[in-house]
Amino acid sequence: MNIRWFAALVVLAGVVPACALESVPKAEYHERRVALAGKLKGGVAVLFAAEQPLVDFMPYRQDEDFYYLTGWTEPGAAVVIVAATDAVAADAATATAARPAQPYREILFLPTRNERVEKFTGAKMDATTPGAAATAGFDEVQPMTAMPGVLNALVASDRERLRKMAVEPGSAPAQALLGFTATTLGLDAAPPTVNVAELVVPLRAVKSEAELALLKKASDASIAAQMAEMKAVRPGVKERKVAGLITETLMDEGCERVSYAPIVGSGANATTLHYSDNSAVMQAGDVVVIDAAGEYSMYASDITRTLPVNGKFTARQREIYDLVLGAQRAAAAAFVAGKSKINDPLHKEPDSLDQVAFAYINAHGKDLHGQPLGQYMVHGLGHLVGIDVHDPWDYTKPLDKGMVFTIEPGIYLPEEKIGVRIEDVFYVDADGKLVDLIAALPHEAAEIEAAMRH
Ligand code: GLY
Ligand code: MN
Ligand code: MN
Repeated sequence: MNIRWFAALVVLAGVVPACALESVPKAEYHERRVALAGKLKGGVAVLFAAEQPLVDFMPYRQDEDFYYLTGWTEPGAAVVIVAATDAVAADAATATAARPAQPYREILFLPTRNERVEKFTGAKMDATTPGAAATAGFDEVQPMTAMPGVLNALVASDRERLRKMAVEPGSAPAQALLGFTATTLGLDAAPPTVNVAELVVPLRAVKSEAELALLKKASDASIAAQMAEMKAVRPGVKERKVAGLITETLMDEGCERVSYAPIVGSGANATTLHYSDNSAVMQAGDVVVIDAAGEYSMYASDITRTLPVNGKFTARQREIYDLVLGAQRAAAAAFVAGKSKINDPLHKEPDSLDQVAFAYINAHGKDLHGQPLGQYMVHGLGHLVGIDVHDPWDYTKPLDKGMVFTIEPGIYLPEEKIGVRIEDVFYVDADGKLVDLIAALPHEAAEIEAAMRH
């Protein structure tokens, strides 16, 4: 059978390998594009897929905003989203020509198939594949080669659009394309552009039910990985072996990759926030901070647990552990949808959960010199989670319904060789209630010790 037809039949029949990514409904990507068009003020958004890695055979991950808007996981593609515009009457005073109303448009541009390259990469779809638009869930699919002409025609038909081009900052192909368009229209330079990423931030921040389902799967897989590691940690075991076990479990649970390099830091390494060398051998009497989670169908989780290497916390380790857990619980209990902010580097903002955790830690514990422990809480309390493990957000704004974020207090005491971080992912439900997506994983020190025994 002709390879092109075979590929089309596979796609159209929905025959996908067992480990293919799951997706939110195609209609949801369309709704997102329409929502973005509503923010373009009559302009045009132009986004490109992530470049292929320069080093051969390195894994490919789609650009986050591009994925959010298209669901497309392949390189070499681009999307153009055109806001609808009203009709404009001719105005001699301002030399404005009459213009008819123009409808919303969305076009996915795909590279032309290359059967030689497909020997390496497998069969792909292109604009000529039968049913391409329906399969991609787009109103229009066109070949990449048509893109300059389409953009040129769009802008020529309404020059106002040229002042309202929304592209990703630093996108070399977008700048090249706009430069070319400006040249063909007789302009000296490419026009200034709007940052499309900023327009997408508030859309991405509020998760749909379908996104939440994927975020739960990422968290459930990550809980399984953290449970597996609790049974594996003991004196004499390499940190890296634990990192490997976590990765293996995540893959087995259906994740396509880790959502960040696993952090398995024991002893003094527990006090280095993003230690990911994982090169030490765990020793009795130390604690180990394990910050590790996976990504399920492009949606991340982010979990940290702190374990006693020999299965039993010392009194001091337990004291610090309980403090960090108490701070996490105090912050979660203080949450008010639409009012609470997550981070506050100066710990002064009354509505920040950061301030709640900081005050709790200061009120309940001391270092070896009798000083309050808040000074050892050296990183932000949390961040949004989604297609990025650190989803973009304006942290001066409060958190609200539909958002997913971490609460991850930590205390790091190099002098005592103790680092403790506890991190869960939370979802704000439709009633504004906080739901812990990591509820099924042990939290209490005694629960951790029990999980390590079994
Ligand atoms: N795992 C990275 C973080 O907690 O932000
Ligand atoms: Mn985090
Ligand atoms: Mn983390």
